[in-house]
Amino acid sequence: MDNNKPIGVFDSGIGGTSIWKEIHNLLPNEKTIYLADSKNAPYGEKSKEEIIRLSMKNVDFLLNMNCKLIVVACNTATTNAIKELRAHYDIPFIGIEPAIKPAATNSKTQIIGILATKGTLNSELFHKTTEIYHHTKIIEQIGYGLVELIENGQIESPEMNQLLHSYLEPMIEANIDFLVLGCSHYPYLIPQIRKIIPNHIHIIDSGLAVARQTQNVLHTIGFNTDNNNTPIFYTNTNPKVLENILGNKYLVEEKLF
Ligand code: SIN
Repeated sequence: MDNNKPIGVFDSGIGGTSIWKEIHNLLPNEKTIYLADSKNAPYGEKSKEEIIRLSMKNVDFLLNMNCKLIVVACNTATTNAIKELRAHYDIPFIGIEPAIKPAATNSKTQIIGILATKGTLNSELFHKTTEIYHHTKIIEQIGYGLVELIENGQIESPEMNQLLHSYLEPMIEANIDFLVLGCSHYPYLIPQIRKIIPNHIHIIDSGLAVARQTQNVLHTIGFNTDNNNTPIFYTNTNPKVLENILGNKYLVEEKLF
């Protein structure tokens, strides 16, 4: 395996950059290619077959770019397609699953909340994970509309605020002490969520865990050893949206895929 090949990262849109940032912070010498399939966002409302088809299309693109490992920076794609990706391609895949374990094991009230897409909450992988923690009450909430608003740059809009209130207030009333963000888009909502939930409720996302797992796999397949580590970003919609979420620090190329 050529360790100087890039790491590929894909998501249904711009949200997976929350995972990409953690990878880039932990492994700044690695080359990364980020692919935003924003044209097809959200994946969370699609069938499993469609999510597998779109995930394979993204993987084919990244393999054409010679990636040595692929991070599926989308909870919906991980929970619905990672098994099929691992079976179909001869390359390591790292997925992102809702961080139920740290929430369930550290919860004092034994009541935790999870905000995720319909595709994630209905997946077999998610059900298998929650079965393990059957002593913990898990309040599940589908984040209808949140990904669309984030993709449209409406993170701080009144519509977002209204949706978040309606999703989070029942969880607060149910006495959760951990809120798991089960979608890679949602870390961008933490400032808004913090204004709604009391301070004693911990918010957990999976970004750092995914970056650490990426580092573990690189111990086996090899770290980058050359100096060429400028990140590359591709999207199939308006590049400005991805550039904005990246703080206008990187140029994004629009590609048809
Ligand atoms: C979506 O495309 O619906 C959200 C992506 C995710 O689940 O992380």
